Amino acid sequence: MVNFNYYTPTRVVFGKGTVDQVGELVKAQGGTKVLLHFGGGSVRKSGLLDRVKASLEAAGVAHVELGGVVPNPRLSLVREGIALCEKEGVDFLLPIGGGSVIDSAKAIGYGVASGGDVWDFYDFKRAPTGCLPIGTVLTIAAAGSEMSDSSVITNEDGWVKRGYSSDLCRCKFAIMDPELTMTLPDYQTACGCADILMHTMERYFNDQAQPMALTDALAEGLMRTVIDASLVLVKEPGNYQARAEVMWAGSLSHNGLTGCGTGGGDWSTHKLEHELGGLFDVAHGAGLTAIWGSWARYVMDAQPGRFARFAVEVLGVEPQGDDKATALKGIEAMEDYYRSIRMPTSLRELGVEPTEEQIAEMAEKCGVTAHGEMGAVKTLRVEDMKAIYRAAM
Ligand code: NZQ
Ligand code: ZN
Repeated sequence: MVNFNYYTPTRVVFGKGTVDQVGELVKAQGGTKVLLHFGGGSVRKSGLLDRVKASLEAAGVAHVELGGVVPNPRLSLVREGIALCEKEGVDFLLPIGGGSVIDSAKAIGYGVASGGDVWDFYDFKRAPTGCLPIGTVLTIAAAGSEMSDSSVITNEDGWVKRGYSSDLCRCKFAIMDPELTMTLPDYQTACGCADILMHTMERYFNDQAQPMALTDALAEGLMRTVIDASLVLVKEPGNYQARAEVMWAGSLSHNGLTGCGTGGGDWSTHKLEHELGGLFDVAHGAGLTAIWGSWARYVMDAQPGRFARFAVEVLGVEPQGDDKATALKGIEAMEDYYRSIRMPTSLRELGVEPTEEQIAEMAEKCGVTAHGEMGAVKTLRVEDMKAIYRAAM
């Protein structure tokens, strides 16, 4: 087990009816004027926005609103949010939504507290010095931004999608009521489950020769739980227990817990997907499942034992003659699972058919983000990235 530094300062308020505590939670953090940040309309339609406003009013907390965050959140709205917060004297950010809304709020928080051009932080030019405090009401179990140190923003100028990680943006609290996720379209529920799984898979496939007994057991238990619950939700989207398992797993999968002692993990599938999201605006979870099998087949020879263990412990594959054969069965079983939750296993199924020029563009942008090379299972450079995109067609 390698050394690690595990920090999860977010208060989790979990369960039915917890939304109504939001006003008091903001007040306890010292918030007096809040930016309510949200997406394209689901929070209005469900009545959630009104519930949040009522709770803030009851606690004597003022608010301003900025909706319109789109999946793969845009830099232009972040800039608008920064200007609004400065004009209105906002001192607390309250994103109500999923990863896109929370990430947009994190970027606004950096911009207000650190000054200068906010894109500098995502463009590796300088580090932020602060972030406005953030609390969230989560409406989709997926990205894990409610407990992660990351935010991912798309700059429309060149369609560059970049992530930035820092403890400064960690949410002060996250309200997680699984009932709020009942209004999700089935496709978004499945995308979320795929992303949750991948956050632990990225950590599980790492460069450590020795397994870490506890971390591996936590990771395998989490992955089995999400697979089981996601299959329940395909048939019964209103199943509270399954919604609750998935929601809790979403946070634990990306708050660092399943990576303790792993040395960081691989993250190539995520980096490859971010370029798909940047260029083709696909849903993050679906982009991940479309590319994962291609990545796994490309790198598995570097660690057949790890892939074989994943196959047996997570997917219940019978061990074959050797690790390589078991590993391959595992990759096939994972793709069968993706199909069973109606997620794509190729770019064509994802609905994109990049040209050779677009493959080169994505690989080169990915190379810049990765500072030349990426991957813990196997080191990948731009030519490898191109090969993985091509094989995923
Ligand atoms: O905009 P609205 O109308 O709210 O609709 C949203 C959106 O269209 C809808 N939705 C959310 N909750 C709903 C709902 N519809 C009905 N009922 C509800 N309760 O779902 C759609 C997707 O929302 P989004 O926030 O985009 O989903 P997700 O949480 O998957 O976030 C994806 C973004 O997070 C980034 C991704 O790259 C992507 O940009 N990620 C952020 C990470 C982080 N900050 O740690 C890590 C991840 O790996 C990921 O990269
Ligand atoms: Zn993700």
